[in-house]
Amino acid sequence: LQINLRPAIEHDAPAASKVLCRSIAECCTEDYRNDPKLIAAWVQNKTPETLRGWIVDESHFSVVAVKGREAVGFAMSSRSGEVLLCYLILEVRFTGTGRAMLAAIEHQASSTGIQSLYLNSTLSAHSFYSRNGFEKSGPTVLSFGMESIPMTKPLNAGEVPYAI
Ligand SMILES: CC(C)(COP(=O)(O)OP(=O)(O)OC[C@H]1O[C@@H](n2cnc3c(N)ncnc32)[C@H](O)[C@@H]1OP(=O)(O)O)[C@@H](O)C(=O)NCCC(=O)NCCS
Repeated sequence: LQINLRPAIEHDAPAASKVLCRSIAECCTEDYRNDPKLIAAWVQNKTPETLRGWIVDESHFSVVAVKGREAVGFAMSSRSGEVLLCYLILEVRFTGTGRAMLAAIEHQASSTGIQSLYLNSTLSAHSFYSRNGFEKSGPTVLSFGMESIPMTKPLNAGEVPYAI
């Protein structure tokens, strides 16, 4: 089955919650290192109710990846250009779906005049963001008790600036 992306709607909240919790449990072992307390703190705010609020928040842009009728990925950015979430379930990891969700966020941000994206990356996703043009922008910070890496990417990097 082909994987398609579309903007998330309120109705996607329960499925998005499930994707985030599964992705954290299945794909982020490098971050929580089998510590049940860390994983519990991390998934605690990823409930269907919280997701519903985030999706309908007009300062957010959210995209869902769907395979057949099943949600397999979810990503979200803020109006200011912060990549807030980018998660896939294990079965569709390394299929280009993460790159496609990020491209959707980049496209939407560029279209609203955003000049650069920024985020705090998990250790698990650091190489993914590096492959996709992000660079470390500061010292490691703590998020949910785990290390996270501030990264940034200029948009429209292909444009040649005017020489004066
Ligand atoms: C971050 C995440 C969404 C990225 O998705 P992804 O599947 O890694 O990346 P893509 O969908 O772009 O997969 C294609 C890439 O995987 C690469 N790849 C394939 N097999 C691989 C492997 N075994 N190990 C590493 N990379 C591999 C391919 O070479 C391709 O790279 P390219 O873009 O240079 O061509 C996903 O890894 C994930 O959900 N991680 C856990 C959640 C997380 O930490 N999210 C970030 C929160 S800040």
